[in-house]
Amino acid sequence: MSDAAIVVAGATGDLGGRITRVLRERGARVMVLVRRGTAADRLEPLQALGVTIASVDLMRPSEVAKACAGASCVVSALAGLRDVIVDAQTGLLEGASKARVPRFIPSDYSIDFTKFPAGRNRNLDLRREFHERLDTAGISPTTIFNGAFADMLPTGQMPVILFNLRRVVYWGSANQRMDFTTMDDTAAFTARAAMDSSTPRFLRIAGDQLSARELAAVVSEVSGERYRPLSAGSLGMLRIMIKVARAIARGGDKELYPAWQGMQYMHNMLDGRAKLDPLDNDRYPDLHFTAVRDVLTPRFRR
Ligand SMILES: NC(=O)c1ccc[n+]([C@@H]2O[C@H](COP(=O)([O-])OP(=O)(O)OC[C@H]3O[C@@H](n4cnc5c(N)ncnc54)[C@H](OP(=O)(O)O)[C@@H]3O)[C@@H](O)[C@H]2O)c1
Repeated sequence: MSDAAIVVAGATGDLGGRITRVLRERGARVMVLVRRGTAADRLEPLQALGVTIASVDLMRPSEVAKACAGASCVVSALAGLRDVIVDAQTGLLEGASKARVPRFIPSDYSIDFTKFPAGRNRNLDLRREFHERLDTAGISPTTIFNGAFADMLPTGQMPVILFNLRRVVYWGSANQRMDFTTMDDTAAFTARAAMDSSTPRFLRIAGDQLSARELAAVVSEVSGERYRPLSAGSLGMLRIMIKVARAIARGGDKELYPAWQGMQYMHNMLDGRAKLDPLDNDRYPDLHFTAVRDVLTPRFRR
């Protein structure tokens, strides 16, 4: 049993649930903050892990503070737009500060948005805005940067590999490497960072770093069919496409992941500035990272 006491916000979600599981496996005491009125069947898997569950309104820091008493770190895995990433996370931060929790991991889990200017990615700008509050809150923050979740490649959720055309689409250079990490690996690393009292401001991990050309070679090897890189134009062209897609979507500003935001993410990855360097993969030597090859393999198994 570890003496770490970790608060997780967003534990009913995908990444937050995985982080919570690893924390429990490693012997941490875990308190999860859920919304009031969360259905019992969504709480059962968390109860089975042996966590303490507190129903709180994140917009009320005094409620949050009560639930955070005695914690060594607050981990946020919340997902949403301004009302969540800026407003609810601020409530969480204020509650954590009030309870004198020493450390805070914000819900970033992305490419390195500190390396390119604001205005290039709506969702990451919200995190940038939250960081202004986080960095002056008197709490020690650690951001985890993991690139894109590799799990989105075989499902087409990140439509880079065009399986029906046997192409890997890119803008700009086919040789620009991008960072991919699985959700499980991100969760395992985040749980370790939460239990580590000496983490720096930023930690960067990548299960794989592949260019469009290298990704095409990997899918070819795994599928036994020839995949080739497909240029969709220059990065300047992609920026124009983003503007047009955003204008056509009108109202898409209320969606968390509209197509134009995915295109912003692609642009950020392919212009090279958000590339994760140096990597902290070796920080916890017993952790092993999953290669994209292994993420893609099940898709082609009959
Ligand atoms: N790098 C990548 O490629 C990538 C891809 C996907 C996600 N991410 C990031 O990973 C993080 C987690 O994403 P996810 O996909 O795991 O999210 P998810 O499954 O949608 O879970 C979101 C969690 O946030 C909670 N939540 C949202 N709004 C809330 C509020 N106002 N008050 C209290 N709880 C609230 C949800 O609670 P309920 O269950 O009650 O709704 C849920 O527990 C986010 O930062 C996301 O941007 C990164």
